Amino acid sequence: MKNVIVTGAAGFLGSTLIKKLLENGAKVAAVDVGFDNGTLPDQENLTKISMQLTDAEGLAGAIPEGEYDAFYHFAWRGVNGPEKADPDIQSENIRLTLACAKAAKMLNCPRLLIAGTVAERAVESLLKLEKTTGGMMYAAAKNAAHQMAETYCKYIGQPFIWMQFANIYGPGNHTGNLVSYTLDQLGKNEEAQYGPAEQPYDFIFVDDLIEAVYRLGDAAWDRTGYYIGSGDPRQLKDYLRTIGAIKRKENLIGIGKRPDDGVTYQVEMFDITPLVKTIGNYVKTSFEEGVVRTIRENKA
Ligand SMILES: NC(=O)c1ccc[n+]([C@@H]2O[C@H](COP(=O)([O-])OP(=O)(O)OC[C@H]3O[C@@H](n4cnc5c(N)ncnc54)[C@H](O)[C@@H]3O)[C@@H](O)[C@H]2O)c1
Repeated sequence: MKNVIVTGAAGFLGSTLIKKLLENGAKVAAVDVGFDNGTLPDQENLTKISMQLTDAEGLAGAIPEGEYDAFYHFAWRGVNGPEKADPDIQSENIRLTLACAKAAKMLNCPRLLIAGTVAERAVESLLKLEKTTGGMMYAAAKNAAHQMAETYCKYIGQPFIWMQFANIYGPGNHTGNLVSYTLDQLGKNEEAQYGPAEQPYDFIFVDDLIEAVYRLGDAAWDRTGYYIGSGDPRQLKDYLRTIGAIKRKENLIGIGKRPDDGVTYQVEMFDITPLVKTIGNYVKTSFEEGVVRTIRENKA
């Protein structure tokens, strides 16, 4: 890839991908509301475009002229925190995903890659739930964005893939997901509390995820969606106990201390066979190694 567009460029994953693209000689047009958080220092081949994405025309007009090989759409408001539950913010994210598809078409970009999440699959538990958590609004919006982007891209003839990410962890990730929550609690010597944690689950180390995302940029796609996971899904409580053992604080892993949220994942959801067929083996980091690195690099 020589020339690439990335939205959500100052975020955790967008900035990590951009560093990899630049290391590999690509030129990047990076779009985000701002870059003051310092995740992306100024450097050659990187054009930072500070703008609020609002529509396709505005975005296409702000991208420097040129031929682009790939367009990664990572911008999304409310990936974490209270905005996850906000219906207006999450609906706006869906609209902006479609605006990016339209902009990719206007820019004649031959490949559009959009960030999804395995949490989309949580909506499959909706019918049996009497009550949901606020975070489910994010999952539902991603699911809707997925269906609408797939429909719209097929309608306008925009080649695209939806990348469904596993749960991600690594240095610098303070999303409050189960790894970052557990490490934070144990760091404070406080108990981390969970439901029964019996469901199958999948965590991937951020560098492995970004390797897959990078390779997908110019791979020969044979489908419109890929799940990007570790290839080693486990029962959730096994992951949690592993973190407790690494920190030597097994007594602070409070499994069963909260009610079950009723969301279940099936182990088949975590199948990486189609992805490995397309891009080769991309996973290098075991969960144990990844947690040790996360602890070490977060301290540094
Ligand atoms: N981090 C995870 O664990 C995880 C897991 C699965 C999927 N994802 C998906 O990956 C993508 C990136 O996630 P992340 O962790 O890097 O999130 P992040 O919150 O760190 O980054 C998102 C970025 O998008 C930008 N943004 C939001 N709305 C914008 C707008 N209208 N105009 C311009 N910029 C805008 C934000 O400023 C932010 O920098 C998201 O789509 C997210 O849903 C993340």
